[in-house]
Amino acid sequence: MSESANRSHRARVLSGMRPTGKLHLGNYMGALANWVKMQDQYECYFFIADWHALTTDYADPSQIAPNTIEVMLDYLAAGLDPAKSVLFLQSRVLQHAELALLLGMSTPLGWLERVPSYKEMQENLTNRDLTTYGFLGYPVLMASDILIYQADFVPVGQDQQAHVELTREVARRFNQFYKVDGREVLPEPKVLLTPSPKLPGTDGRKMSKSYGNTILLSDPEPVVRQKLKTMVTDPARIRRSDPGDPDKCPVGDLHKLFSTPETMAKVYEGCRSAGIGCIECKSWAADGLMKVLEPIQARRSGISEGQAIEIVEDGSRKAAVRAEQTMVEVRDAMQMALTTVRGA
Ligand code: TRP
Ligand code: SF4
Repeated sequence: MSESANRSHRARVLSGMRPTGKLHLGNYMGALANWVKMQDQYECYFFIADWHALTTDYADPSQIAPNTIEVMLDYLAAGLDPAKSVLFLQSRVLQHAELALLLGMSTPLGWLERVPSYKEMQENLTNRDLTTYGFLGYPVLMASDILIYQADFVPVGQDQQAHVELTREVARRFNQFYKVDGREVLPEPKVLLTPSPKLPGTDGRKMSKSYGNTILLSDPEPVVRQKLKTMVTDPARIRRSDPGDPDKCPVGDLHKLFSTPETMAKVYEGCRSAGIGCIECKSWAADGLMKVLEPIQARRSGISEGQAIEIVEDGSRKAAVRAEQTMVEVRDAMQMALTTVRGA
């Protein structure tokens, strides 16, 4: 009790990821690294959205549980700390499903059909049938994930911004219909837009699992070096004797994120004068990457799958206690309590 009283002045943050497999550098730079920093400033809830994975993978759910464990290991390896944050699994907190069902009652269909990712994903993932109730309801489930912790802030990338905006509208509509003693139950959360630096994958496009161009947080050093060797470079630099421009090269973008100013200077000078070769330049980029990956990989190798499972089950019990607090208010606001009408 005293602990929660202590913490109650800190703003609450919630975010999560679908368990799509081992996380890559893009996930780290665009989300995880930011979450790790937030742990000391906010009361944090970070979770794995396994039910959300089912909205697209319902026909073959076999990878969701193993992917959940990989993501949990990556969360812990990146520095999410169960002593600071509540780390949990969506499907272990049944209250999320109850709130999603209740929010669904008042959410107009048109709002869901208008979400940009709805049509987009249906068009992109043509190998599966996404004309389902569950897939249309994705944003309602996400609203439930957020509102059930009465979160103040939701740190997400731009791709998720529309979902958080919709969450605010869902909350507003709920609050208009239902109140407890005139008080609103579901505060509207704010987006905390994660600045996402330009992180190219090995083919020069944005690093993304769907492009198959990723460097995983758990890739061993030889794999990282091999992937960098195949990475595209400034297209103007065809021969070793051609000068290049690090500002037009995806490897140059990696240097900007991971290399020291001294290395950067050598890269600019050597590339523009054709004084260095791309192979050498890439090996320096790999050095910079490994400086970030080494501590992450060291932590990962110190955690067993069993420990990761225990941490997520334990965190889920804590999350459920907090979620139930909100649900008591929600059920009250929606007048679900039974009281005798004839006085007995
Ligand atoms: N939709 C998010 C994604 O695809 C995952 C997610 C589910 C989420 N529920 C959330 C993110 C709640 C933030 C808050 O990445
Ligand atoms: Fe890119 Fe480096 Fe080659 Fe220049 S030397 S083109 S920055 S890989």
